[in-house]
Order: sequence, then C-alpha cells, then structure tokens
Amino acid sequence: MLQVKDLYKSYQVGRQTYPVLRGITFSIEPGEFVSVMGPSGSGKTTLLNCISCYIPFDQGEILLDGQDISKFNETDLSHLRNQKLGFVFQDFMLLDGLTVKENIMLPRILSGQTDKEMERSADRLCQVFDISHIQEKYPAEISGGEKQRTAVARALINHPLLVLADEPTGNLDSKSGRTVIESFLQAQHSLNATIFMVTHDSYAASFCDRVILLKDGVVHKHLKSGKDRKEFQKELLDSIQEMSGEGR
Ligand SMILES: Nc1ncnc2c1ncn2[C@@H]1O[C@H](COP(=O)(O)OP(=O)(O)O)[C@@H](O)[C@H]1O
Ligand SMILES: [Mg+2]
Repeated sequence: MLQVKDLYKSYQVGRQTYPVLRGITFSIEPGEFVSVMGPSGSGKTTLLNCISCYIPFDQGEILLDGQDISKFNETDLSHLRNQKLGFVFQDFMLLDGLTVKENIMLPRILSGQTDKEMERSADRLCQVFDISHIQEKYPAEISGGEKQRTAVARALINHPLLVLADEPTGNLDSKSGRTVIESFLQAQHSLNATIFMVTHDSYAASFCDRVILLKDGVVHKHLKSGKDRKEFQKELLDSIQEMSGEGR
C-alpha cells in the first residue's frame, strides 16, 4: 500500500542546511491503522507532507499502491490528493460557509462528480460517524469532536487508498479525542480504510495496530500492539521516556 524507502529531507535556511529526515524506511499494509510518534520538531509533519507531495524530498522513494509518486506531474498529483488520499488536520479545515454534509461532499464536488450516489455516500458516512443529526448545521454550530468527525467523513468520501491525519486529536479535549479515534477505528473496521496518523498523544496511538517512533530523523523503534490497549499505552510511554532519556 504505502512504502517509504530511505527517505531524506532537509530544509535550507539561508546558507544552512538542516537535515530533518535522515533515512526513513517503513511500509503500511492495506487496512492497517498506524501512527507515528516523536518529539515536537522530529519531522512528523514533514514526513506527511512528503507522502502527499506537498514538499519535495531530497532522496529516497515513496510508493503508493506500487507507484513512485515523485515521478508524478502536477495533474497526477492533484488527482492523487483528491482521489487516492484523504486528509485530516489538527485544526479541522472545514469551510465555514458550508454545512456539515456539504463539507463532506466537497472533495466530490471539486472533482466534478456530483451525482445521486454522492448524497447517499455522505448520508452513510454521517450515520457511521454519528453526525446525521447535525448534517445541516454549520461548523460554527457544532463541537470540536463533531467537526473532526466531519473531517474524517470528508477524508473518506472518495474511498481513498490512504487517510493521512496530522495530530487529529491535538485541539480536542480527551473525550472528543476519543470519539475521533473511535471514528478512525470505525473507518478501519467498517469501511476497510487504511490510516496513517501523526500524534504525540500516547492514548490516541494506543488504539493503533502499530506505532513508529521517530527520533533524530530516523525510525527509532517499531511497536506492535498486542491484545490489551492499556498495556500497549504503557509500552509506548516507556519507549518515549527511554528515548528522551537517551537524548540528555
Ligand atoms: N519550511 C520549513 N523551513 C525550514 N525549517 C522547517 C520548515 N518546516 C519545518 N521545519 C523544521 O523542521 C523540523 C521538523 O518540523 P516538523 O516536521 O514540523 O516536526 P513535527 O511535526 O514533528 O513537530 C523542525 O525543526 C522545524 O522547525
Ligand atoms: Mg507537526
């Protein structure tokens, strides 16, 4: 599904070069829910932006569904972002002037696929994510958790290969954050979605199948979830603590 091979990315500031990603390799299988954790500034957002080709990278390869995305031209890329990828951001990125349902349908409207099926898909997603009762409301009239569930539904309207989420619970209280994580689990289990989530929240990450820990631009550790979520969260916290201890 997604393969990242020996990825390097640095930023040029003036004459200085700051390496951020220094040889990242990992892959994600269809139907997996995987998260990336790492200290602030460790390059998590940079990694997501490379995968969606919003920023160029220096070296390495990113294959999505077997295709090398660095070879795509602008038309291919906009098709990729609209059809093959779904995005969920920390600050929701909903359009204030559109209702919940219209926001969910937006990727279809943008790609000119406004058919009856679109309405049905949006209705179904509203049911799955428990936002049917607010589908005619505007973003200003709903809670943070409801906004983010709307964003998750929007990310899924085109049946993307992969959903990319950057700190999706970062602006939410723990209860709303939990409903958003539940919506990802629903997407994974009911809609067979593949989800790649950046987070610094060990609680959110503990619901994933796997967690990739980033440190100093490389994959520090891969952790696989066992049966018990709480055990996994403890394991994550221990690894993060050990990782920051080594840094001192
Ligand atoms: N456009 C940019 N130009 C220069 N440096 C950047 C740019 N974007 C991010 N950085 C730097 O790269 C590092 C990684 O940033 P980022 O990927 O946003 O980390 P994270 O999401 O893990 O907090 C940080 O030190 C940040 O300051
Ligand atoms: Mg970030």
